Amino acid sequence: MINFREDIKGVILAGGAGTRLFPLTKVTSKQLLPVYDRPMIFYPLSLLVNSGIRNIMVITTPEDQSSFKKLLNDGSQWDINIEYATQDKPEGIAQALIISEQWVNNLKTILILGDNLFFGPNINNIISKSIDLNSGATIFGYEVDEPKHFGVIEFDQSRNIVSIEEKPKNPKSNWAVTGLYIYDEKVGSYAKDLKKSDRGELEITDINNIYLDQKKLNAELLDKNYSWLDTGTFDSLLKASNYVKEFQKESNNKILEI
Ligand code: TTP
Repeated sequence: MINFREDIKGVILAGGAGTRLFPLTKVTSKQLLPVYDRPMIFYPLSLLVNSGIRNIMVITTPEDQSSFKKLLNDGSQWDINIEYATQDKPEGIAQALIISEQWVNNLKTILILGDNLFFGPNINNIISKSIDLNSGATIFGYEVDEPKHFGVIEFDQSRNIVSIEEKPKNPKSNWAVTGLYIYDEKVGSYAKDLKKSDRGELEITDINNIYLDQKKLNAELLDKNYSWLDTGTFDSLLKASNYVKEFQKESNNKILEI
């Protein structure tokens, strides 16, 4: 039995263009593509549900919304509530916080990208504990070989966060900001004040930097006992399928059954 919590709402951002996966994403959404034996979105959804999140909003493109509804319904089959909203254009991850603001209605938010998969020991307890301890914002860091593709965390010698840079040319560490974020009830109002970046997006890094300026940003660092899989390219999508196949053989993997 899952102990559901009522202090926080979950948002899964599952829009985007998926251009790197063309033509796979020409007629369907990236987050509906298979990762081994489940549609991709099952993994972030399952992570939230198993971490005790009962109220979840799924944000999709307008074209794909009906497919997601067909797949997930209203969530009652898993004893959860699923709401749907659309993002008209992929104008940035932080836009999800504006789209969901009214629905979140002054609770905390946990935001996850629909193509991010997390595995590892007690990951659900870690998330649940991070929600309890969150005062401001919590991001989840993971060490990667090519940090320049991500938001990158710079630390001082005591492992305090000094900066977060979006896709830096000269990354100051190998710690990437993953697509899982916990925010306090103020995040919607911060998001509404954001200006678009040079690439025309409302940047989640700008939100995280607001909390950093207030000294209210915490980073939970996931070591190599954990896996963070992003499925945006052909190779990483295939790798994720193979990973899940092996992981399921070795462990009692609690992915939602439909
Ligand atoms: P990306 O992988 O950066 O973008 P994408 O999915 O559109 O793919 P590509 O770069 O190949 O065109 O996005 C990461 C995740 O965030 C992915 O799950 C899609 C989602 N996303 C949105 O839903 N809306 C947005 O505005 C952005 C920027 C991302």
